[in-house]
Formats: sequence, C-alpha cells, structure tokens
Amino acid sequence: MPPTIRKLTSRIGALVEGVDLAAPHNPSTITALRHAVNEHKAIVFDNVDLDNAAQERVAGWFGDLTTAHPNVPAADGTTNVLAVDGETSKANEWHTDVTFVLNPPQLTTLRSIVTTPYGGETLIANAAAAYRDLPEPLRALADSLRVVHTNQYDYARPSATTAQRQEYDRVFVSTPYETEHPLVRVHPLTGERGLFIGGFAKRIVGLSSSESAELLRIFQSYVTRPENILRWTWAPHQLLIFDNRITQHYGVDNYDDHPRRLNRVTVAGDVPVGVDGHRSEQLVGDASHYSTVLEVAA
Ligand SMILES: [Fe+2]
Repeated sequence: MPPTIRKLTSRIGALVEGVDLAAPHNPSTITALRHAVNEHKAIVFDNVDLDNAAQERVAGWFGDLTTAHPNVPAADGTTNVLAVDGETSKANEWHTDVTFVLNPPQLTTLRSIVTTPYGGETLIANAAAAYRDLPEPLRALADSLRVVHTNQYDYARPSATTAQRQEYDRVFVSTPYETEHPLVRVHPLTGERGLFIGGFAKRIVGLSSSESAELLRIFQSYVTRPENILRWTWAPHQLLIFDNRITQHYGVDNYDDHPRRLNRVTVAGDVPVGVDGHRSEQLVGDASHYSTVLEVAA
C-alpha cells in the first residue's frame, strides 16, 4: 500500500499515514516519501514509536547523516542527535539549519520528546512560494545576489537569559564559519527556485550592512507571509521532516517555563547552486567533520 498523503495547507505541509517507520528500508516507500517532501516541503508522521537509533535509521533512508552540529556536541549516547531543548536554546527566529557551512543539511528531522501543555509550535515556511510571490523586478534582483551566512550572528538574536543558554550560545559560536551562498537557490531535485536566506544571512555581497539589512528584510517578508507557513502543534510521538534546502523555520517561544524537547537528526546536503550555476563558497572555517558533501547528478 502506498502511503496516504493529506495536505495540511495549500502551500506547505502534509500528514503522512500508512508508513511503518519501524519496517526495514523499502525503496518504493522512500521514493514516495521523497516525492512528498519535494512537493509539500514538510511532512509529519503521527503516533510513531521511535527511539534515537530508529530516528537516525529513518533519516538515513534519505542520505548520509551529519553529526549533531559543527560546534555543539551530540546528545548523550548518540553521535547524530542534536537536543533541541528549551533549557539551553530557544530557536525563536526564522532560520534554515546550519546555512553558515558550505553544504547545509538537505533535510531536517525533528522528533517530539517532551511537548508543552500549550504553545511551543514549530513554524515552517515555504521559501519557493516566497520567491514566486516576488514582483518580477525583485525576483530579477534576487537572482543576481549573493549572501554571506555566518554563525557569528549575535546581531539579530534575542540574548540568552539564563546561564545554560549563554553557555550553549558560547559553544554554538566557538568556531566561526562563514559561507557565501546565492540568495536564490535552485533545488537540485525539482528545479524550483527558493529564497535562501534566514537568520544566519548576514550581508549581501557588495552592499553595506545597512543596505543588506533593508533588502534582506524585504525578501524575508515574503518568506514569512502567513500563507506560506505551516504552524505545527506538537504532540508526543511525532516526527517532522522538512526540506532544509527550500524552507525556513521558527520555534515559537510561547510556552512559559514548561520543558520542551525535540531531538533533531539532519541529512547531509549538496553545495547550493544559484540560477546562474554559481555554487556556494566557504569563506571561513572547514566543516568537513560535520557533513559529507552530497553530489547531485546534473
Ligand atoms: Fe532549526
């Protein structure tokens, strides 16, 4: 039986049913799931019974795993799991995961471990729809621009308010990385164009920091239009997979001091390519310990 795919909004998100994630590797299932990710950008599985090893195994259906993070150590007893924990960090800013390295993850998987009695949603935005919404002159401008992404991103971030969060931030930035990416990335599997910016995007090449901030704000306003967003409310035993090449996400900090924990496993990605065929270039740092480079056939 092929999986049942039920759309959650017109532009992003689908619920997948009829897949046994505990079953062995099955090429036709994986093809169906890849197709669903390509089309819907974010897919959710309800009532899953996975532990860390099983989450790693499912993520591995889509490619090589990255380690947990270039700078942040893996969760205890794992090599590939990053603890997304409200105690240490609140990802309440729009971002695409790890875009400060040359080849950011192609996919992110998040599994609910501790959910909150209210709030704590994850928002996921369709950056391809955002690109299509741009008026033609802005699209042409976007196509021509390159952007430097960095993990030294204190300029835009809410400052840490506890010692634990300050320590997490210190480790997060401990080794600097900078990469120049095209502002518009061509998806290697679908050919779709998407705005490739988010919280680690620091400045547009050739522009001043204030000009960069103004222009990035305009492009970002298209990503975060409500129509482009899936707002996912977590329950226990759920797995979310989103295409990190063509989305941004945001963890809403609206759950007071309740504990919240998701376990994240990411899949190694390719080097982004712009509409002119120009690839991304690492400017600072070497993240080869973090991720293999996925080669995508042209
Ligand atoms: Fe994230």
